[in-house]
Amino acid sequence: MLRVQHALLSPMESLVSASTAVVPPNAVANSRSAWSVLKFGGTSVSKRSRWDTIGRLAMARQAESGPVLVVVSAISGVTNALLAIIDAAQRDADKTAALVSALCETHREFAATLQIDADGVIGHRFAELRALSGDARATCADVGWQAELQALGELMSSALGEAYLNQQGIPIRWIDARQHMRAIVLPNTTEWAARLSVNCHIDTSPDYRAAFAEQGALLITQGFIARDEAERTCILGRGGSDTSAAYFGARLQAARVEIWTDVPGMFSANPREVPQARLLSRLDYEEAQEIATTGAKVLHPRCIGPCRESRVPLWIRDTERPELAGTLIDASAADAAPGVKAISTRKGIVLVSMESIGMWQQVGFLADVFAIFRAHGLSVDLIGSAESNVTVSLDPSENLVSSNVIDALCADLAAFCRVKVIVPCASITLVGRGMRSLLHKLSDVMAVFGRERVHLISQSSNDLNLTFVVDEAAAEGLLPKLHELLIASGAMPVDEAAVFGPSWRQISGQAAARAACWWQSRQTALLSLATGTPRYVYHLPTARARAQALAAVEAVDRRFYAIKANPHPALLRTLVDAGFGLECVSEGELRHVFASVPGLDPVRVLFTPSFAARQEYAEARALGVRITLDSVYPLQMWPALFRGLDLQLRIDPGFGSGHHEKVRTGGKGAKFGLPATRLAEFLAAADVVAARVVGLHAHIGSGVTDAAHWRTVYSQLAGLAEQIGTVESIDVGGGLGVPYEPDAPDFDLQAYGRALAEVKAAWPQYELWIEPGRYLVAEAGVLLTRVTQCVDKLGVRRIGVDAGMNALIRPALYGAYHEIVNLSRLEDAPGAPADVVGPICESGDVLGRRRRLPASTQEGDVLLIATTGAYGAAMASTYNLRALPAEELLDD
Ligand code: LLP
Repeated sequence: MLRVQHALLSPMESLVSASTAVVPPNAVANSRSAWSVLKFGGTSVSKRSRWDTIGRLAMARQAESGPVLVVVSAISGVTNALLAIIDAAQRDADKTAALVSALCETHREFAATLQIDADGVIGHRFAELRALSGDARATCADVGWQAELQALGELMSSALGEAYLNQQGIPIRWIDARQHMRAIVLPNTTEWAARLSVNCHIDTSPDYRAAFAEQGALLITQGFIARDEAERTCILGRGGSDTSAAYFGARLQAARVEIWTDVPGMFSANPREVPQARLLSRLDYEEAQEIATTGAKVLHPRCIGPCRESRVPLWIRDTERPELAGTLIDASAADAAPGVKAISTRKGIVLVSMESIGMWQQVGFLADVFAIFRAHGLSVDLIGSAESNVTVSLDPSENLVSSNVIDALCADLAAFCRVKVIVPCASITLVGRGMRSLLHKLSDVMAVFGRERVHLISQSSNDLNLTFVVDEAAAEGLLPKLHELLIASGAMPVDEAAVFGPSWRQISGQAAARAACWWQSRQTALLSLATGTPRYVYHLPTARARAQALAAVEAVDRRFYAIKANPHPALLRTLVDAGFGLECVSEGELRHVFASVPGLDPVRVLFTPSFAARQEYAEARALGVRITLDSVYPLQMWPALFRGLDLQLRIDPGFGSGHHEKVRTGGKGAKFGLPATRLAEFLAAADVVAARVVGLHAHIGSGVTDAAHWRTVYSQLAGLAEQIGTVESIDVGGGLGVPYEPDAPDFDLQAYGRALAEVKAAWPQYELWIEPGRYLVAEAGVLLTRVTQCVDKLGVRRIGVDAGMNALIRPALYGAYHEIVNLSRLEDAPGAPADVVGPICESGDVLGRRRRLPASTQEGDVLLIATTGAYGAAMASTYNLRALPAEELLDD
C-alpha cells in the first residue's frame, strides 16, 4: 500500500540555507525582512473587542519587529450568506433581494457597533452586491460571477476594519489583495477550480518586497481573494484566508506568519472528541502538513506549503487566549525523536474499488484508470493494490465528490474494470515522524482496529503517517480510546515538554475539580501501615459515600454489589449495611458472602455465573439465592436442578462496551448471554420444568462512562419482557466507570440517574435493578508498595517496587492507568520520567510508564498506587511464588 503524496518539495527548498532552518523565529526576524503577517479569521473579526485585539497586536508586533500586514476573513457567516445568494440568484429574484438586504443589514449593524457609518465606508460594495445579484451571468451560475460575489465578504470586512482602527488612532492602510495575489493555472485545472479554488504565484524577488514596502508599514488586506492573468477576480476556496496569509508571508520573506483563530493551536487529536488531547507546541512543516491534511480543521493544509518553501515560521494563536504560546510550525522541530504527534479522522471518504481479472502485469492499466479520475477532476488520496484489484480513496475536502460525479466516474471506469464504491467511510490517521520505527509500540492500537472492518491500510512513503480506512459508523467514538492507547504504549511521547503542551481539558478549565482523594490527607497513617508491603488499604468511608450516592438514584429499586470487584468481608458488611444485596458468580463467592455477613437473607443474593459447573447451580439452589442463566444448556441438560424455580435470564443485547476489549461482555465475540433470537427456545425449555423467567438481566461491560448505554440496555430488555409476560424485574448490570487519571472527570451520576429515570418512566411495571462493583470500591482502595531498586538502562529509568503484576494485574492485562505517587516524598518536585516495574519475571510487569516521580526517589520509599480498590487484590495471584498482598482497613 502506498499513499500518494501531494507535491511538497519545491526548488526553493534546496536554496534554503541550513542555518536559517534551525534558528528560532525571533532570530530569523533579524536575518530577513522584518514583516509580520497576522491573519484573523471570521470569528476574530466579528466583534468590536476583537478588532481592539487586532489593533493591539498589530501595534505590538510593529514595535517589536517591524512592518505588519494584517490579513482578514469575512465576518462570521458572511461567506455562507453569499453562497446562499449565489444559490437563490439562479432561480428566485425575490428571495435573492431579501438575502442581499439582510446581508447589507448585517454589515450595517456590525458597523454600528464600531461606530462607523457603513454606507459611507462600504456603500459602493453594497451597490456591487446588488448589481451582481441581478447579473445575467447568474442564470448559468457562471464561475467568474460566483467569484466576484464571494470576494465581497473580505472586501467589506477589511474596509470596516481599516475605518475602525483609523478611528482608534491606528494608522493602518487598506490595500487590495488582488494587486498581489496572482492566480496560476496548474495543468488539469477545471474551469471551476480556475476561478473558485486557485493557487497563487509566489514572487520572492527583492524588487517585489521593496515595492510592497512602499505602501506603508502597517497594512490591512483581504484573505481569500486573488486575480488571474486576465485581471479577473478569483478566490482561493475554503481555508483561503490562511493560504493568503501564507502566500504573503512567503512573498515578503516574513519573520513570521501568525494565524489568529478561535482555538489555541493544533492538538494531538480533535479536542472536542478527546478532551485529553494535548496542545502541540512545536511541529515541523511536514508533520503539520500531515495533521492538517488528515483531518485537523484548525489550519487549511494548503497554507503550510508556501511557508514551508520559504522557511517562514507559522504560528497558530488563539484570539481569546493570547497568553498561550499556541503552535509554532517551523523547521527547527524536525530533529525530534520519532513519535506519534497526532491522531485524526476524516469522514465522508469515498472508496473506489476496481476489480480487473486480467490486470496482473497488464501494461497501462493504472494509467488508463487514473486518466479517468483526472478527466473527472478527482485527485486520489490513498491507494491499495493487489493482483486484480486497485482500491483508491477520494477525500471530499480535496474533491467535489457529489453522487453525480461518482456515478459518471463509475460509468467511465466500467469500460476497464468492475467498480465498487464503498461509502461512507472514515479514515483514521496516526501522524508523526518515523512511523515505521514505531510499529512495535502499536500493538494495542492494532488490536482496536482488529475488531473493525478495515477496508484499507496505508502508510505514507514519507514515513509520516499510517492510515486506516473503516466504515464511518465504526470510527464513531474510537478516537479517545486510541489516543489513550498511544500514550500508554509510549508511541505518543507526551512527556516531551517542548512538543506536547497542556491538554485541552486543562486549557479550557474543564480539568475536573475533583474533591481531594482521601489518601492525600492521610500520609502519616498510610506510611505507618506500610510495614509489610505490598499492602492494599481500603477506606470504608469512601465506599459508604459511593453507596449513598448510588442509593440516591431514585429510579433504581434494588441494588446489588458485584463482589468480584473486592470481596473483603468488611466491605461486604459495609455495603450490606448501606442497603446493597450481593451479586456472586461462583460457589466460592456464595459461601464467602454467607460466611462474611452473618444473617444474610438469601433473597439479597444473586448468582450470575458464567459457564459454571452443574454442582455450583445445585449449591445455589440449596442456598435459596436467585439464579441467573445465560444459555439454554443448563435447562436442557440438568432440568431437575431448575424445576419450579423463579429464574433470571441474562440476555446478550448484541453489543458490548467498556474500557477494554477484555471487559466487554456483549456481542458475538463474548461468551455471555442468550441472544434474543433464542428466547423462544429458552422459554420452551423453562416451561418443561415449570420454571418462570421473572427477571431479565444484561451486563454489557465494565468501565462505561456514557449513561446512554444503560438506557439502551433497559429498553431492549423491556421490549423482550413484554413478550415474556412473567417478568417482574430488569437488571441492567454494573459497569459504571471511575476516574483513573488525575484530571479525568467523575462518573456522571446525574446523567446515569436521568437515563434510568427515562426508561423507568416508560416501563414502570418492572423493578429496576443494578449490580455495580467498581464504582463502589475502586476509589476506596490504594496499593502501598516499597521501592526496591532504581536502575538506569540505556536511557530508560526504572523504579523497582515490591508489588508486581502478581499484586495488581490491571496495567499488564488491560494497559490500565493507575496514578502513582511517592508517599514518602509527596512534597518533592517531579523528576524525569521513569517506568515503575515489579519483581515478576515478565516484561509486561510494568505498573506505570514514564511517570514523573521525584528525582530523589530511592530504595525504601513507599509508593502509593491509587484507585486500586476494585479488581486489585481480587485479581492478585502468587505467580513466581510471591505472597499475596496484605489488606488493611481505615475507617476514619
Ligand atoms: N455484573 C456482572 C454480571 C459482571 O460480570 C460484572 C463485572 C459486574 C456486574 C460489575 O461490573 P463493574 O461495575 O465492576 O464494572 N477485571 C476488570 C473488570 C471485569 C468486570 C467483570 N464483570 C477490570 O479490572 O477492569
